[in-house]
Amino acid sequence: MRTDVKTGLQTVGDSLLMQEGRWDFAQAVDAFDRHVEKSIPFCREGRDYVAKLATFFVRPDSLVYEIGVSTGALAVAVLRRVAGHEFQYVGIDVVPGMVERANSTLSRDPRFSGVIADAVGYNFDQASLFLSYYTLHFIRPQRRAVLMGKIYQALELGGALIMYEKIRAPDARFQDMLTQLYMEFKQGSGFKSEEIINKSKALKGVSEPFTTEENLTLLRHAGFRNTMVIHKAYCFEGYLAVK
Ligand SMILES: C[S@@+](CC[C@H](N)C(=O)[O-])C[C@H]1O[C@@H](n2cnc3c(N)ncnc32)[C@H](O)[C@@H]1O
Repeated sequence: MRTDVKTGLQTVGDSLLMQEGRWDFAQAVDAFDRHVEKSIPFCREGRDYVAKLATFFVRPDSLVYEIGVSTGALAVAVLRRVAGHEFQYVGIDVVPGMVERANSTLSRDPRFSGVIADAVGYNFDQASLFLSYYTLHFIRPQRRAVLMGKIYQALELGGALIMYEKIRAPDARFQDMLTQLYMEFKQGSGFKSEEIINKSKALKGVSEPFTTEENLTLLRHAGFRNTMVIHKAYCFEGYLAVK
């Protein structure tokens, strides 16, 4: 099916159907891993890099939170890399189906617990590491700022936030280039032109990426003084912020 005139459902690839402005993670659980890895350049490599970086901040008694755990793919990478420590890894996601999938995948690892919750309203305990892998641009800017403040408050001194985000370019010329390159990347991943257009329609008003400067400002306003860009490819960036 391409577009259902009655429901407005349009194909966005990987057998997923979404309406304009209504991208819905709850409908995407089964196809999620395949879809996200085809949609984000260096998605797997990025998770491995985060896992390696996590070893600087995870000690035997640590508490680690992941905001937007989805099916648990980043958690699997981190828990595998930081083997031998009895730390706790709490993966939060607002979509029950995602958390069920993550809990099932990691059911044999007692360090992991998936929690169904809106991260913005969550009461965090003191933690040594927060991870957010391509999640915050799905949280509206006002709420994003509230969440960032809570993350900073909950982090222990010396603890860190590792945050990867889809980003916007600082001006129209660079945005044109990024958009063009990203479209070509998605075609190279096997998406049809129609699916690429429908996906960007589905994300209207749902995904609200910041520029690099806006992300660094968000971190600074929350209280972070030590920040570094750790990844940059196409319209995707990663940041390390240490308290
Ligand atoms: C792009 S996915 C994250 C991908 C995942 N970290 C990975 O490595 O595969 C974004 C996730 O954030 C979740 N999410 C969006 N808003 C949220 C919120 N306010 N609180 C918790 N989770 C949220 C979505 O349900 C979705 O599963």
